[in-house]
Amino acid sequence: MSLAIALFLIIVLAVGFHFASPWWTTPIASNWVRMDDMLTITLVITGVFFIAINLFIVIALLRYRHRRGHRAVYEPHNRRLEWWLIGLTSVGVAALLAPGLFVYADYIRPPRNVLQMEVFAQQWQWRFRFAGPGGKLGTTDVRYISNDNPFGMNPGDPNGRDNYLIETPEVHLPLNRPIQVLTRSRDVLHDFYVPPFRARMNIVPGMVTTFWFTPTRAGRYDILCAQLCGLGHANMRGVVVVEDEASFARWLTQQSTFAQQQARVQAAAAAAGGGAQALANQGKTLAEAKGCFACHTVDGSPRVGPTWKGLYGKTETMADGSTAKVDEAYLRAFIRNPTARVVKGFAPIMPKFDLSEQELTTLVTYIQSLGGSAATSAAQP
Ligand code: CUA
Repeated sequence: MSLAIALFLIIVLAVGFHFASPWWTTPIASNWVRMDDMLTITLVITGVFFIAINLFIVIALLRYRHRRGHRAVYEPHNRRLEWWLIGLTSVGVAALLAPGLFVYADYIRPPRNVLQMEVFAQQWQWRFRFAGPGGKLGTTDVRYISNDNPFGMNPGDPNGRDNYLIETPEVHLPLNRPIQVLTRSRDVLHDFYVPPFRARMNIVPGMVTTFWFTPTRAGRYDILCAQLCGLGHANMRGVVVVEDEASFARWLTQQSTFAQQQARVQAAAAAAGGGAQALANQGKTLAEAKGCFACHTVDGSPRVGPTWKGLYGKTETMADGSTAKVDEAYLRAFIRNPTARVVKGFAPIMPKFDLSEQELTTLVTYIQSLGGSAATSAAQP
């Protein structure tokens, strides 16, 4: 009896909670209203079965409860009932799966005139790539991936020269234009997910997976990784900014192309022979190109990351209480692996930038040149 009451309460509370729930989806910001329809279909079908099965148990518990003088009847088969159950379950399962197959077929078949965006995932950060004025994404291969070429761009493919490479976790997209997303992973399984777009896709190492969507609402949206991909999975976040076509075009042309990135690598190598000032100048150019100033200032004011003014020569306290002197070795190790040690008061959110050895030297020399009094004597070539 108490079990019947408990089950009945569970049905009433579950249905009641569904309608009073504060946990609704975010306002939709893409064309995929059909994703929400799919969820509704699933919820209604599973909801109906949930209520029916539990109500059946409640009724059975009440009707066939133990009474003196009653005996249970042994009935091993009931063909009619079995056919009914098989039929109902088949219809239910087909109704759950079939509509989704149609939506999925459309989801991976882009309309014409899409803008292609490559999403390149690695533990634990996002990179993005767009075609340049030539309109084609150049070919890539893991064989080409190095600190000089983090995207693995094929240096022999002329289509890749003008491709825009975005190494910060913020990407912009134009409003009301279909976007085809092409995903690659550098290491393990990740999943590109922007909840308001109702769009996501597993990123499988060794292959390119794809889907398309049209952003229909301007704004800033979080990019999440939706596959548990290691220790830093929760920090694998990014931002997509949806804005009008003109603002998007302006943003895109401010990004570095593959050719510019290669030129910077060469300039850094050339600066290596030119003394501290040349190195620091090249380091400043590099910091601007890589977006370092989004998080670090050079005037002493704090931002997401520590200011570079007076950083060199300072003693930093780590989150674990230990201390470390900021010298060349410290900076090189930190930039190469930014989350290995966490500085007290800062979140471990700095992305890993792949830099050539010489690029790293220019950057460290630049930070050194902004250092305190202790640093000036250290700024030797
Ligand atoms: Cu990448 Cu989780």
